[in-house]
Amino acid sequence: MANADLRQVELNTNEILNAARAEHSAAATAGVEGGVFYHDPVMLCECLEGLRLNEPAMKSGVFVDCTLGGGGHSYAISNKLDATGTLHAFDRDEEAVAFATKRLASIPAERAPKFVVHPVPFAELGNEIEAGSVDGILYDLGISSHQVDDSSRGFTFVGNNPLDLRMDRREGVSAQEWLRKVDADDLADALRRNADMDRAFKLASRIVELAAGCAEENREILPSDMKTVVEAVFPDKRREANGLLARVFQAIRMEVNGELAQIETSLRAAVDCLKVGGRLVVMSYHSVEDRCVKDTCAEFEKACICPENLPVCMCGGNHQRLKKVNRKPILPSADEINKNSRARSAKLRVYERV
Ligand SMILES: C[S@@+](CC[C@H](N)C(=O)[O-])C[C@H]1O[C@@H](n2cnc3c(N)ncnc32)[C@H](O)[C@@H]1O
Repeated sequence: MANADLRQVELNTNEILNAARAEHSAAATAGVEGGVFYHDPVMLCECLEGLRLNEPAMKSGVFVDCTLGGGGHSYAISNKLDATGTLHAFDRDEEAVAFATKRLASIPAERAPKFVVHPVPFAELGNEIEAGSVDGILYDLGISSHQVDDSSRGFTFVGNNPLDLRMDRREGVSAQEWLRKVDADDLADALRRNADMDRAFKLASRIVELAAGCAEENREILPSDMKTVVEAVFPDKRREANGLLARVFQAIRMEVNGELAQIETSLRAAVDCLKVGGRLVVMSYHSVEDRCVKDTCAEFEKACICPENLPVCMCGGNHQRLKKVNRKPILPSADEINKNSRARSAKLRVYERV
């Protein structure tokens, strides 16, 4: 985005913030707006620690939250900064941006950092944020509780709303449209790649038949139709039907939103955006997401980038740009999992720019 456009976004953001400050309600501080619960931030203390936000020198730092959602992490980050700090926040979901912006407005203006919203996919990070300018970048991947709980968004198989699965409903094709166009081979690849599904081809063939049947009958594909297909393909796993269905939804959602490509592109840009010593903090919720994070970052942990078959290093051996802060990913405490079941599958990886 050009500097002039960026300034415009900043101005618009300030207008929204000032308007929201004027009508601020105390509930906004708790992720609850007008009685609607949005999202409970996962591993909040661990994320702040990973971003080094407990260090006094970071009060005036520049931070990026790539996944604003309900603003839980952003709200806590803003509270660690002072008026000399800056928080940039990305989300491709306009409802999330509206909700979180209002919530962040509850921080008193005299100590609130500069807040800049980027209502675009986080793969745009490198176009929106200057190289070498950032102290810490956070990703809390996947979807928010609100996106799942609001059945009109078509993310859930609880209830029976037509599948949509887009984070930004203004862009791209819905799950319905995608399933009508995809062939069984490509769908099977997506089921394997995005959710490690067994019997992927059989499942994909049945889903493609279902989509064609629904198109003929001129009706939408419903979660109950998908459940019938999953039960037919896995008659021996009836007890696990909901878990299997969740993985089918996950695989289709990841395809419709281009999630793995988004993560890879954005992480590469994040390495450029960080200052030396800056932190990259990434939280994932399933093995496919985590593998994408780990493999992408691993490329930047290598000092030597010569082809493996070269007997001696010819590249200078000084290419390392990230180092792990923790050897193993950080996991949520049992207490947090008890309080918030969504945390149970979370894995947090922290890297430092070198
Ligand atoms: C798990 S939620 C974040 C919750 C947030 N940390 C909080 O405490 O409320 C993930 C958010 O990231 C957004 N998101 C996911 N992938 C994105 C992408 N590629 N670009 C921009 N936003 C994305 C989703 O729309 C969702 O609102």
